[in-house]
Order: sequence, then C-alpha cells, then structure tokens
Amino acid sequence: MDGRDLVRSVKAVGSVGGAQGLRTVRAAWRRRRADARALPTRGPERARTPGVVRDAAPGPGGGTVRFSRSELRIVVAVNGAVFWGWDGADPEPSYALAGRCPEPDPRAVLEPDKEGGWRVVAERVTVAVSRQGAIEVRTPGGVPLRRDLPPRWWEPVGGGPARWLQRSEVAADARFFGLGGRASGPRLRDGTYRLWNTDPGHSFEPGDDPLYITMPVQWVVADAGTHLAFHDNTWDGTVVLREGEEGAGSGHDRAGVSELRMDGGPLRCWVIVGTPARVVHAWASLTGAAALPPAWALGHHHARWGFGTEEEVRRIVSGYHEHGLPLDAVHLDIDHYDAHQVFTVDQDRFPKLPVLAEELRRDGIRLVSIVDPGVRATPGNAVYDAGTAEDAFVRDASGEVVRGVVWPGETVFPDFTHARVRRWWGRLYEERLGEGFSGFWHDMNEPTSFAAFGETTLPRSARHALEGRGGDHREAHNVYGLCMARAGYEGLRELVPGERPFVFSRSGWAGLQRYGGTWSGDVATSWPGLKASLSLVLGLGLCGVPYSGPDVGGFDGSPSPELYLRWFQLGACLPLFRTHASLRAGRREPWEFGPEVLEHARVALVERRRLLPYFVTLAHLARRTGAPYVRPVWWGAPEDRALRDCEDAFLLGDSLLVAPVLRPGTERRAVRLPPGRWYDTATGRAYEGPGQVLVDAPLERIPVLARAGSVIPVRGEHGGLELEVWAPAPGRTGGGLVVPDAGDGWDEPEIERYVVRRHGRRVVVEREREEGMSAPSHPLRVRGLDEP
Ligand code: NOJ
Repeated sequence: MDGRDLVRSVKAVGSVGGAQGLRTVRAAWRRRRADARALPTRGPERARTPGVVRDAAPGPGGGTVRFSRSELRIVVAVNGAVFWGWDGADPEPSYALAGRCPEPDPRAVLEPDKEGGWRVVAERVTVAVSRQGAIEVRTPGGVPLRRDLPPRWWEPVGGGPARWLQRSEVAADARFFGLGGRASGPRLRDGTYRLWNTDPGHSFEPGDDPLYITMPVQWVVADAGTHLAFHDNTWDGTVVLREGEEGAGSGHDRAGVSELRMDGGPLRCWVIVGTPARVVHAWASLTGAAALPPAWALGHHHARWGFGTEEEVRRIVSGYHEHGLPLDAVHLDIDHYDAHQVFTVDQDRFPKLPVLAEELRRDGIRLVSIVDPGVRATPGNAVYDAGTAEDAFVRDASGEVVRGVVWPGETVFPDFTHARVRRWWGRLYEERLGEGFSGFWHDMNEPTSFAAFGETTLPRSARHALEGRGGDHREAHNVYGLCMARAGYEGLRELVPGERPFVFSRSGWAGLQRYGGTWSGDVATSWPGLKASLSLVLGLGLCGVPYSGPDVGGFDGSPSPELYLRWFQLGACLPLFRTHASLRAGRREPWEFGPEVLEHARVALVERRRLLPYFVTLAHLARRTGAPYVRPVWWGAPEDRALRDCEDAFLLGDSLLVAPVLRPGTERRAVRLPPGRWYDTATGRAYEGPGQVLVDAPLERIPVLARAGSVIPVRGEHGGLELEVWAPAPGRTGGGLVVPDAGDGWDEPEIERYVVRRHGRRVVVEREREEGMSAPSHPLRVRGLDEP
C-alpha cells in the first residue's frame, strides 16, 4: 500500500463513517490476506521456449508449425488480418471479437522457408516462422514490419497459469501508439505501460499510468508500413517500449523494441497490416462496428458532480438560454441518487425528475444518468435484494459475496461476465427510463473499490462466470467495464427497441465501441492535463473506440479563464463535448469566467452546432469503416516522419485539421500540415503542405484548417443541411461523403458522394449516383476561391 492508497482508504473510511469505517478497514485487511491465500502460490517455475521446428501441416488460411515444446497455429482471415496462437490457443473465445472469428482466407498458403523455417504467404502479408519460433511479419514486397522473438513461458511446477514474455522488434524509425487510453501519448515513448484498468484515485496528468481503459492493442507506424498488433489476452500485464535509433553514417540501426509480459492467459495475437484506413477497417470487422450515438449526443453536454437539486439544474439550463448558448444534454451525477444508491432518486432534492426531464426535452435537452456498478449491501435496498435473489454478485473463493466500499458505503458487485446477470442488470434501466433519462454514463467500473488496501479493485481471487468457463478476477478485471457496457446497451435495446442506446463508460476493453464510447475520466485541471486529454481521445480512437472526450476544464480545482477557454475550444472539436467537474471543483459554466471567455465560448458552441451534420457524418463513417472521428495527422501520410512526431494537432475526419492551443499565452502556433492545400477556416488564407506553418491562434479561436477540395456538411442558418465546399487548388479535384441524420432510430441513411472540380475561378460540385452525376442535394457555399 502506498501513500495514495492510504489516503483513499482514510477518505473511504470518512465517507462511510466512524465505527462502520473502522470495521470496513479491518475487513479490507482480512480480505487482502484471504485473497493472497486463495490464489495458488506460484512456487518454483519452469522456463520454456518453443524449441526447434519439427514439422508443419497446412490448414485453412495457413497451418500449424510444430516445435519440440510447443506448436504455433497461423491463420490469415478473409479480412486480411493474421491470427497466430501458441500452445493450441484459438481465436475464440474472445471478449474482443464481435462475433465468430472471420473465415480463413483460402488463398493463404503454408510453404517451406529458408533455413528450415516455414512461411504463410497471403495477399497482403507474409508471415515467416524461423526454426526457433521467431515470427516475422513482412509486407508482400518482403520488407519486415515486426519480428517476434521466440516467446518464453514460466510454468509453475505445481500447475497453474503460465506467465509469458513476448519480445518484438520493429524498425529503428518506428513509432508506437495505442494501448488504450494513455495520458502520456499519443506517441508512446520509452517506458512501461501496464495493462490493468485502473482508477488512479486522483486527477491524472501525463505520466500517470495505467488509467481506466487499457488494451493490448499496439500501433506501429514506420517508413516500411503501418501495422496493428493485438494480443488477445485480458490478464494483467505490462508493455515495455523502447523506440529504435537509426545509426548515423555507417553506424548500425538499433531496432525499436516492445516487450509484453503477461501474468497468464493465452499467447495469441492478431496482426493487421496496411494503410491506417485499412487497418482500422479490418480491426472494426474483427471487434465490431461502433454504436452510433444519437445526434443529440454529438452536441454539447453539461455535467457536474453536485448539481444538488432540481432547482440548480433549472438555473444552469436557464443560464445557457439567457446567454444564448446551445445545450443538448445535462448529466446527473451520483448526488441525485438516494444515499448514493444506483437506480434510485433522492426524492427530497429531485422530487419530480420526470417532469424536469420532460421540460428539458421540450427545449431539445436530454438528461443523462450516471450508473455505477456497485450496489449498496443493505437488505431492504431493492437492487441488492433482487441481485441477491438472482445470485448476481461476485463471490470469493470460499463462496462468500465479495464486499467493497464505494460511494454508497459497503458495496457488492454484479458479475457482468455472466449472461444471466447482464440480462438482470439490463432490465434495471427501466427505472432510469421512467425517470426520464435518455443516456447512461457508466462510472467506477474498473471496478473500483476504495477500501481494498493495496489495489483499489476486487480481490484477484474473486470468482467470475466468464461466460460459463469460470475463472477469477485476474482474467475478468479488464473486461468488467466492457461487460457492464454490454449489459446496459443490450438492456436498453430491449427496453426501447426503436431508439439507439446512448451509453458511455469509464472503463472498457477492446470492443467497447460495440456498446458505446467513453470519456477520459478524472483529468487534472492543468495545461499538462489538457494535453493528456487529447492523448486519450487519439489513442482510444486508434484502438477502435471513436467516441470520447474529456471533462472540459479538468475534473478538479479551478481552471484559469484562459485554460478553461482553450479546453472548451478543443472540446468543441471532439466527439463527446462535455463540461464536467468534481464536487469540490470550481464552476464550469461558460459565463463564470468573465465576458470575454463567455463570448469566445459562445462562438465555439455555435460553431459546434453548425458542424453537427459533419459530426453525424463522422459517426456514420466510424461505424461503417472503423475510422475514428479524431485521427492523428499522419493518418493519410504515415510515411512522413515529421507528421508521426506531431502530437499537438489532429484530423477531424478527412476534411478538417484542428490545432488546439495547449500552452498558456499562445497567440500564434506552428502547425504541421499533411500534403495538400489547407485553408485557415477563420481567415480563408491558404497554406501548402507538407510542412510547418505559423498560424494565428488568438484567444477567440483555435486554428481549424480545411482541406482543399473538401465537402463539409453544415447546419445552415435556418437549420437545414448545407454543403460548405473548400475550393480545390488549381488543377486539383476534391470530394467528400455526407451522411444525413436519419433520426434516433435504426434507419440507415444513404451515403451521398460528392465530386468537386475547379475550372479557373469556378468550382463545380456534383453528386455521384449509380445512374450518373447529378446536382447536389443541398445548398452550397463555396469558400477559398479568393486564394490563387
Ligand atoms: C468518478 C468519475 O470519474 C467522475 O466523473 C464522477 O463525477 C465521480 N466519480 C462521482 O460520480
């Protein structure tokens, strides 16, 4: 237990109260000892490597290579992704896969390689296996992208799960990204990154690791190509990264290295090779299409821990109205619960919640409810009684229900890895719908328990159903939030079949996007916190979770007006645009920071509303193609090293480049441009990429640049859809996709494709249809023609 744990435990005791608190602490100590006793002692271990190749047998999509002490199965799937598993590991069962494993590609063949090795040759990738079990992934042209050295296992002599280590080498120029939501990215520099979803217990900044969503999903971007490697294993682990170095002159290159150590679970890996767009497409085809948020969830959300009363909610909403600020959703935190108990309402302070919800809805504002997994362990509490009757709660190795401490005090935790428990939990959202809520914010679902001593989660020996296979928390921990999201999402689909559920979750794992998005958790109110909040959105998007965004203004303390405004301007360009803060923090309403900030925040809000059709389009494209709304600037040009190292800007879809202000006192900033012409959307001035340019970033706005030739769907003055078209550079063409909003149901709108041509000082826009070209379906506004 370190100092922070102690502070948390003491706080927890405080929140639970005197005698009960002390009992809780004692119970936590007992639990910790019992946990250690309940886990198998590791004892002496035996190290193992695969040994040497014996023989190989072809199989669908590849084949099996047998070594003296292990065997390796390689399958190339029809989507181009390659799977390999050691020691008989199959792709299924898997919490990451959206359904069945994709079919093997019948064209992939296993053939002998040089020096007694074997290789699987497929259309987009070759996988070569050495005599000792090293695996090299190569482009079709034979250029190596990744070399996994023979793995090493440590097996307890007395039986039990083996620990293992996989060391991989990548090109000296390669950069690492991904691993879920990381505060110190988006480029993952040398360091250790843990794979264990964690509530840090304090507001985080760069350097705090791990956080709420970790994933063994790694992007490697190098001159030779881009690939994603996913080790499908939910256990605790660490990734140690060391970027490579190119030898100057005749010196040797030093390869980049990634070392993955896992405490147990299968050694199985998926690798996807290709352009970033191709990689995310195949990744989404493996792990599932992203849930489509309703259009209102792409607007502005205002949250607060501690609104306190219905009157206060009304007061805030009126503030938005009076100041002419668009608002689309209000979030109620745990303070609206009765004694912090989930699925209840404090009737004294929120006596007529459905009436309030209806009033807000008439004004186009939705109510979103926090939902915590912990259930207050008090007989008479309806959820506890029902869960007990359902045998829903996680038990320890001796069969006792595991108790922790969260906001309501002593708490028990549903086992979301059980389909029956998920169904039970999903039905509980009926109460929330009855109170008028339209969206759901899953919190504390790493899961977090304050008084756990040592680790603020469930004991590692706690038992879980794991879909009938049975196992303990070491395996279930990282998917707890994912399975809770599934429970909520599927429950809502049954309760309100005509509407798309809106769920976002603090914790999760690979595949979370199937059920919803996330937010960045409790980010520190500081300039480094602001930077960290962008890092999380970028990393999560690369890992397949496209919908996220930070607590604008930071979670704790009071931001300076400048920090608040810069955060607000960034937030307005991210998928989830939400102001939120802690109970103890200062205000976060835009009018609390003086008239200048209010004016500039209004501009950001109005622009967000104008861009809503673009966000709707990006949401549809994320669902259909896997491409996140927020992409690193190297997205279309990963071979450009300067773009790979650019961490302070991002692409918003194909058309916009956003260069947020991440430092105080900035009035101009350098922006690294991808190839092509880019227009400053505020001034109309054109810049030519690739290269770095200096762009004005006055307090009233952050630089947003539009790609020449792009077609951006926007909301016109009277609410209708319009197309903002940025002139292609002379001699160039352009185009874009538009997906109109089709409501909050399941209707599939048609994708509109536009082509843009420039003839001198004239720009022609046409819609491409099966039957030929036609006039655009919406009014046009052409910009950028003043530039030569
Ligand atoms: C922790 C969450 O991260 C935060 O957003 C929320 O306000 C508090 N829990 C209270 O529910």
